[in-house]
Amino acid sequence: MESHRHNVVLIGFMGTGKSTVGKFLAKQLNWSFTDTDAMIEQKEQMTIAEMFEARGEAYFRSLETKTIEELLAEEHQVLATGGGAVLAEKNRSCMLKNGFVVAFIASPEAIIRRVSSDQSRPLLQGNLDERVHSLLEQRKQAYDFAHMTIDTSELSPERIARIIMKRLK
Ligand code: S3P
Repeated sequence: MESHRHNVVLIGFMGTGKSTVGKFLAKQLNWSFTDTDAMIEQKEQMTIAEMFEARGEAYFRSLETKTIEELLAEEHQVLATGGGAVLAEKNRSCMLKNGFVVAFIASPEAIIRRVSSDQSRPLLQGNLDERVHSLLEQRKQAYDFAHMTIDTSELSPERIARIIMKRLK
């Protein structure tokens, strides 16, 4: 197996299914699963929303970079990263070097449907429809550097995990 295939890094906009699929995929591969947002929240003992409020987004972004670096120094990891993790060049090169990078994309409708059950995301405060469309526009090409891209709008987590597993062989 090529060295970058010792880990799988899931990237994509909020609500594209990274955590749900990541858990499932890790189980199938018998690898460890980490949601970088959840790990940061646990370490800092506060939610991402609280962190943005109390420390600012830059503080969160530096922890995000550190977390990704640390996890990708290991092997047999499946990572679900936050939707904005790809904005830093340092993170992108670390992901490409140490992992098989899979980008999830989804229609704005599917994204809005999925994120509306969790109103805690700091970057989606205000008019949800407007925020999603404007951030999607800003990040139009942000996920294009991946080794593989999957549109998750109409697929079950099981199906998506199977598609990824096939590419890992
Ligand atoms: C963010 C996405 C969130 C979280 C933070 C910022 C982003 O993660 O990291 O709220 O910039 O897109 P999810 O993609 O897991 O929701």
